[in-house]
Amino acid sequence: MMTKNVAELLTADLLLQEVHLQGWVRTFRSNRFIALNDGSTINNIQCVIDFENTSEETLKRITTGAAISVKGTLVESQGRGQSVEIQVSEIEILGDSNPDEYPIQPKKHSLEFLRENAHLRVRTNTFSAVMRVRSKLSFAVHKFFQENDFHYMNAPIITGSDAEGAGEMFRVSTLDPEKTPKTEDGKTDYSKDFFGKETNLTVSGQLEAETYAMGLSKVYTFGPTFRAENSNTTRHLAEFWMIEPEVAFIDLDGNMDLAEDFIKSVLSYALKHCKDDLEFLDQRFAQEEKAKPQQQRSELGLLEKLYFVVDNNFKRVSYTEAIEILKNSKPNKKKKFQFPIHEWGADLQSEHERYLVEKHFKSPVILFDYPANIKAFYMRLNEDGKTVRAMDVLFPGIGEIVGGSQREERYEVLVEKMKALGIEEDELWWYLDLRKFGTAVHSGFGLGFERLVQFVTGMGNIRDVIPYPRTPQNAEF
Ligand code: 4AD
Ligand code: MG
Repeated sequence: MMTKNVAELLTADLLLQEVHLQGWVRTFRSNRFIALNDGSTINNIQCVIDFENTSEETLKRITTGAAISVKGTLVESQGRGQSVEIQVSEIEILGDSNPDEYPIQPKKHSLEFLRENAHLRVRTNTFSAVMRVRSKLSFAVHKFFQENDFHYMNAPIITGSDAEGAGEMFRVSTLDPEKTPKTEDGKTDYSKDFFGKETNLTVSGQLEAETYAMGLSKVYTFGPTFRAENSNTTRHLAEFWMIEPEVAFIDLDGNMDLAEDFIKSVLSYALKHCKDDLEFLDQRFAQEEKAKPQQQRSELGLLEKLYFVVDNNFKRVSYTEAIEILKNSKPNKKKKFQFPIHEWGADLQSEHERYLVEKHFKSPVILFDYPANIKAFYMRLNEDGKTVRAMDVLFPGIGEIVGGSQREERYEVLVEKMKALGIEEDELWWYLDLRKFGTAVHSGFGLGFERLVQFVTGMGNIRDVIPYPRTPQNAEF
């Protein structure tokens, strides 16, 4: 007898075969029909029990959430709603699930409730669909880069410097916080700590990826990233996964092409390989949108949005142009922005990014050439002396999904910049070395993987696209 998963049973040609399957009961009705799911697909398989030959005790134990093993014949379904079903000859209860205690009932639960039951939420349609899509997207990320001659590089998770300046960092230390060793001037003596210096969890693998790009030419990282920012939003996590390609010999234009090709490639992969899940999520998205006030609703459905992004060019707009558009925009004139745009140099808030993407261009936008003083020290200075070769990719409903730049490859210019910002040269001696030995034009970017998963699945809150979200005041599970 063949052991099969539900996806195989529903798609392979196995009619009239004796099969064995295992999974969890989603529903059980009329003492006959079990909807069984094993996570291989969003779809359940119907298992029909011969209840006259099944003991009363077994029937009682077939409850929502129970793990069961079933043997039987795959037959064409008599009922409506499915093409095939299992005529059960043998059933075994592997693990009971007390219906009075099991939190996941066959009804709609709120996302908040499911977050509190994150250890069980993958047994719902929504979360199993999201997590399968997430898995496929990770594979698509590797596929794209591997097929384009990139090398996968693992940047360190524990780092010795906050060179990036990307935000607050989580300290890594083995010192006893109650009695840390002190230096003569009364400060904590980190030379006595595990690594003999202050260390933190990484906020980005970029600087290390740059060193590898300067030997392997094309590299990418895909790993956990940590930011201790206290931003309790639907787009921020304290622990998230970032994808950072870094490429020698390409400038900002090449970097924009790479970002656009990459995003389109992984979206196409998902559209092709996650059909059932995306159709389910598309319907879910439509229902969620219906519940919103008219003006906040998305003009496109979820699948329509994905096809739109794959089929259209991203708009490439300089920061300077964007400021002109925003200055003259209706919400700015009517003082509807929380942060009004008065002049060139202003940092863009998510309300501005969303206006550009959702209202003005109605398309993904790549903004480039930002003022130097609102961007990181390593971005390449333009001839004008006041803008840098930065780029942000902005997406509808998400805002910034990618941040990247052409890197400053000129030793003197970089040293000058670091001096101006008070960044110690000896902390980044190795980074400066790259500019001394065989320096070359190079560029890269970072894409927040969870924001990508949010976009593809239509989930409104980033906490619902990662198995166990880490956010301020929350590290349960
Ligand atoms: O724009 P960021 O800060 O860029 C960097 O870290 C660069 N070192 C990347 C590079 O050039 N190699 O972050 C990149 C992306 C953002 O666009 C966003 O998608 C995501 O990472 N991101 C977050 N995602 C979830 N939670 C957070 N707290 C995030 N912070 C950034
Ligand atoms: Mg950014």
